[in-house]
Amino acid sequence: MKMQSSLMVYPNQKTQKSLTLNEILLYINKAYWKKKPYKFQNWGNWLHRMSPYVGKIKPAMAYWLIKIASKEGQVILDPFCGIGTIPLEADLLGRRGIGVDLNPYAFSISRAKFDRTPIEEQLKWLDSVKLDISKISINDCSPFMKKFYHPNTLKEIIFLRDLMIQQKKYFLLGCLLGIIHGHRPGHLSAVTSLVIPFEPKAKAEYKEVIPRLKDKVKRMYKDGFPLKTDGKVFLGDARKLPLEDASVDLVISSPPYFNTLDYVNDNKLRLEFLGYDEDKKEELKKWLIQGKDDYLGEMYKVGLELKRVIKKKGICIFVLGDLHTGKKVINTAEEVKKIYETIGFKTYGIIEDVMPKNKCIPSIYKRLKMDRILVMTNG
Ligand SMILES: C[S@@+](CC[C@H](N)C(=O)[O-])C[C@H]1O[C@@H](n2cnc3c(N)ncnc32)[C@H](O)[C@@H]1O
Repeated sequence: MKMQSSLMVYPNQKTQKSLTLNEILLYINKAYWKKKPYKFQNWGNWLHRMSPYVGKIKPAMAYWLIKIASKEGQVILDPFCGIGTIPLEADLLGRRGIGVDLNPYAFSISRAKFDRTPIEEQLKWLDSVKLDISKISINDCSPFMKKFYHPNTLKEIIFLRDLMIQQKKYFLLGCLLGIIHGHRPGHLSAVTSLVIPFEPKAKAEYKEVIPRLKDKVKRMYKDGFPLKTDGKVFLGDARKLPLEDASVDLVISSPPYFNTLDYVNDNKLRLEFLGYDEDKKEELKKWLIQGKDDYLGEMYKVGLELKRVIKKKGICIFVLGDLHTGKKVINTAEEVKKIYETIGFKTYGIIEDVMPKNKCIPSIYKRLKMDRILVMTNG
């Protein structure tokens, strides 16, 4: 009941009326994503669950920010799209979702979500595969990778991965990466975490890959989604966007915040399956914006690009977390706001979004984890 009354104040989207910035701030302040049914971790289309990612934004938050700040048909860009939560949600809401990310694992999952064909085709392809591991060698696989798998499971994975890449079966490749490690019977590794690949303690048993992949595919189609999409994702750099000037109506993004997360180490095993050995991972680390000292300078460069691609007066919404260093807390949103104002962005507000108590940082600092939603416009 309570939810209904708060929803009633929300303008009917069918009118396609743009809200004023003050209204946008007011509705963001209501944090609908914290109310039932949106507050549940698994709210949203099953496609959002293709594969995990550290720092993934909650689909419900993406849903509400998009609904509040945009209209159907508008172009929404996430220049740090990770596994594509914001472009996918934009797409499901009838907007054109564009995503860019520099991490090949994140990009592979985003791309998979936009590589859509009927489920029957995906299953038929899997049924037609003539799995032959007799010529597959795992000698080149790292000792780290080998710890997670029975040799025959690993050979099957490699066979399928190569075939999927060769035949551009990107949806299936995303599904394969999604089950590559975890703690459930449907995962292919020995028991480990779903998100970060901690070395398994137990010996790996043989797990047949194709039946598990078929189950995964079926789960992904559970809620359905339009097969036709004009959304697009790029493996690219937010400092050099592959987009035309003034082509974006709205930016919604959760950029990295200083060095709080390590998008390479935490996705180590999945990156290895995509051909990222130690040298390539080190190289990737240098390109990603995740350094403590150069963070603001690099975000400045992103700001210049956003200024170029966002239409005049277009909105830019960043969801940013604080950086906790010892007893000091750096308010990232405030820092980013200051440099973006020097570029010509105008700030309308920073809204605090405190996480529920059970999501507190499990540290000695005992502080509540909080996101800050920075709302700006281009001029
Ligand atoms: C907080 S995560 C975004 C997560 C995303 N909202 C999701 O739901 O998956 C930040 C992302 O920024 C990406 N990133 C870091 N530096 C980048 C750059 N220069 N260009 C594009 N993406 C970058 C990282 O790879 C990471 O995926």
